[in-house]
Amino acid sequence: MAKENNQTQLTRERYDRRASLYDLLYWPWEKFVVRGLRSKLWAAVSSGKVIEIGPGTGINFRYHPAGSSVTAVELSPEMLKQAAKRSGESQSNIELITGDVEKLEFQDNSFDSAVATFVFCSVPDQAAGLNELKRVVRPGGKIHFLEHVRIDWPVIGTLMDLWDPVAVRMGGAHINRRASEAVRAAGLIVESEERQGLGSMLRLIQARVPDEH
Ligand SMILES: C[S@@+](CC[C@H](N)C(=O)[O-])C[C@H]1O[C@@H](n2cnc3c(N)ncnc32)[C@H](O)[C@@H]1O
Repeated sequence: MAKENNQTQLTRERYDRRASLYDLLYWPWEKFVVRGLRSKLWAAVSSGKVIEIGPGTGINFRYHPAGSSVTAVELSPEMLKQAAKRSGESQSNIELITGDVEKLEFQDNSFDSAVATFVFCSVPDQAAGLNELKRVVRPGGKIHFLEHVRIDWPVIGTLMDLWDPVAVRMGGAHINRRASEAVRAAGLIVESEERQGLGSMLRLIQARVPDEH
């Protein structure tokens, strides 16, 4: 495997450390804020060959399309161990592997679609990860994102910018990223974007890989 950078190593260690407590820490957020958005995202994912990036503890597995083939690629081995406990919830043919979205070990056009929920807030080089997804998903294939983003209110946005380095150190995730702008900058076509939550901080984005890239 290619040499990884220090930020990637730190991200892995942060998630490794929290893996056993992750579901407990996030259950209110999960139950009261995002559950509906997950089912909505997965309802739009076609069957076929799907790559799920950063499955974490496998919270999405119950939504996998029946009969599909899902390859779940996770940076943190400890998170992947938690995910393995949930693999029986998936109605797909599921494969769990450790890996880094910035350097995927798959050939071009290997998948029909991709899913990443609350992952790109943590990926150190977001542009590199998005480019890799564009490479491994076939032209015309869909990439589905669910992300929290920077709130575009002047004071709140500035506070998020100031707090971001602390948030990364504490939890491993940036709180001030601009997901749809990054997706467009990577050359993906945004087909739909739903905004929810306080200050539209949650984004459900469906993007398409251009026919020629
Ligand atoms: C905030 S958790 C979200 C987990 C899950 N997708 C969810 O919706 O709850 C982010 C996950 O992305 C993983 N991750 C972070 N950087 C990654 C990378 N470069 N490649 C693959 N997975 C990564 C983390 O290890 C962690 O499990």
